[in-house]
Amino acid sequence: MNISRGYDQLSHIYRLVEFIAFGRALERARFHHFSQLRDCKRILLLGDGDGRGLALACRVAPHARIDSIDFSAGMLARAARRLRPEDRARVTLRQADALAFNFPADTYDAVTTFFFLDCFSGEQVRAFIDHLRPALKSNALWLYADFALPPSGVLRLRARVWLALMHAFFRWQTGLAVRALPPAKNLLHAAGFRLQTETSWQGRFILSTVFTQTKVSPNR
Ligand SMILES: C[S@@+](CC[C@H](N)C(=O)[O-])C[C@H]1O[C@@H](n2cnc3c(N)ncnc32)[C@H](O)[C@@H]1O
Repeated sequence: MNISRGYDQLSHIYRLVEFIAFGRALERARFHHFSQLRDCKRILLLGDGDGRGLALACRVAPHARIDSIDFSAGMLARAARRLRPEDRARVTLRQADALAFNFPADTYDAVTTFFFLDCFSGEQVRAFIDHLRPALKSNALWLYADFALPPSGVLRLRARVWLALMHAFFRWQTGLAVRALPPAKNLLHAAGFRLQTETSWQGRFILSTVFTQTKVSPNR
């Protein structure tokens, strides 16, 4: 299965499947910290899918230029349809593999990855953070939302069942290769991103986290 074609097919039913499985829980996690984008001038959305993040980013950050990169043409087409005409000029939608994309240096005030890094292995996420870092300005925000394994007990067991079901579903639909969550938060921390704030739901099965880049930009 070609992965991007898998997401193209899923794009029609993605929101419905999400709602049946999780109700509004993922929606809450994605957008919980969105107001932090308010003053950003350049925002990068990675694997935003059907464009719900893009539509909200346009409203929350009315003066930002926004780049959204996803490798599914189907997802991007849905995202384009959600855009208000007055926002089109400041939004760039790109169909590309984010892991290999040639990002412009020292550009973005914020990046969002919502239920995106869990598409990759730990090694891929580690390499991707290193790849993306030079594109982020000093003190850039990284808005992250994803699943996590709760620390113990019945909730951990329940999460394992859900994750196994989701991995099987995405393997079937998109050819997803991974079978476990990458330690994305630890990798961000190890790469010098500081956890600024975090909210969790369902016993820490769903996380919404804001990291801040701590590097000092060479240009300042
Ligand atoms: C699980 S969906 C998450 C979509 C959305 N962010 C959300 O919160 O539901 C993963 C998204 O990432 C995109 N994607 C997966 N791998 C990618 C890659 N290497 N480069 C760009 N986009 C990718 C898929 O096309 C899909 O839209």
